[in-house]
Amino acid sequence: MDMPQAITDKRQRPLRDLRLSVTDRCNFRCVYCMPKEVYGAKFHFLPRHDLLSFDELERVVRLFAPLGVEKIRLTGGEPLLRQNVEQLVRQLAAVPGISDIAMTTNGYFLSRDKAKALKDAGLHRITVSLDALDDATFGSINDVGAPVERVLSAIRSASAAGLTPVKINMVVKRGVNDKAVIAMARHFRFTGHILRFIEYMDVGNTNGWRLDDVVPASEILRQIQTHWDVEPIASHHTGEVARRFRYRDGGGEFGIISSVSQPFCQSCGRIRLSPEGRLYTCLFGSEGYDLRALIRDGNLSDPAVSEALSALWGRRTDQYSLERTSQTSPHSKVEMSHIGG
Ligand code: GTP
Ligand code: 5AD
Ligand code: SF4
Ligand code: SF4
Repeated sequence: MDMPQAITDKRQRPLRDLRLSVTDRCNFRCVYCMPKEVYGAKFHFLPRHDLLSFDELERVVRLFAPLGVEKIRLTGGEPLLRQNVEQLVRQLAAVPGISDIAMTTNGYFLSRDKAKALKDAGLHRITVSLDALDDATFGSINDVGAPVERVLSAIRSASAAGLTPVKINMVVKRGVNDKAVIAMARHFRFTGHILRFIEYMDVGNTNGWRLDDVVPASEILRQIQTHWDVEPIASHHTGEVARRFRYRDGGGEFGIISSVSQPFCQSCGRIRLSPEGRLYTCLFGSEGYDLRALIRDGNLSDPAVSEALSALWGRRTDQYSLERTSQTSPHSKVEMSHIGG
């Protein structure tokens, strides 16, 4: 059999990024992601044996690397709820070809010790989600009363451990936290952290998304420009989701992720794995591809699995955000909390 090679999809897009959702659970109930009415006491989360084990995840990453994957992002739910996740990081960091391992977390469980353990295991960077700086607004978004200070402390822990640059994700929703844009920008200027404003997206089926709730990138930028002089800077790599800017006074960098108003599907090289081992070639996918059936139940050989992965990417045509209309589409989509954004 031939050695596996870097692959491209039907639109000539290479595969670069693998996002692993390691749990479907979260200790927050963000209104745009896991609304309490849906994710209440009766909600059935995945039982432990349904989750891919660390060894299974490592195997998947080993098979993806020769196909072009260089970057791994651990997500959830909340990835720090997965017990001993630093052990997984250690296993993944040893896979040849993987040059960047990052994690997106709400920060609640990111103590100094945890951050150091993750760094020692081989994690490179952390992205922390934070939508406002005042407890009233933030509490009304996370909906469990988690205080802002706890997340700011997580950011300090990540920074102290050298999990840098630390990025901060702020989802901007009209009428909810659009008034917090300037306060957030001001807070993170001159810190070395990179704040990214994210347009609120119609992921999943439970957040009741409306186009009116989206604050477009142009409006966010305008708000910032009324306070500071800024200029765009070049992207780090093709396929980067954030458009980068810097403050001309040396205040540092920020980003805007305009997935609704200016989609970036043309260069999308991301694939996502759900906690129970279903692969999604688009964030807005519905069914996914049952990889666990191949590696656990079917017990396929490495070359056979690798071939299946190449074939899956090879038939990919996804460009949901480019095709989205003003209405969220009626098809049933995977939930953000399941696939990790
Ligand atoms: P970096 O390597 O730091 O650039 O990470 P990242 O931006 O890929 O990761 P992160 O999890 O922080 O993603 C930021 C946000 O961008 C996500 O929360 C999503 O809201 C959005 N996003 C990321 N990837 C995609 C994508 O493929 N499609 C769409 N529509 N949005 C995405
Ligand atoms: N639109 C945009 N971003 C979202 N996130 C969660 N739900 C949405 C949504 N509907 C963000 C989280 C986290 C990242 C993984 O995705 O805040 O930072
Ligand atoms: Fe949890 Fe993140 Fe979803 Fe909020 S956005 S409920 S922190 S997974
Ligand atoms: Fe990629 Fe789908 Fe997002 Fe487009 S909508 S950037 S194809 S994940």
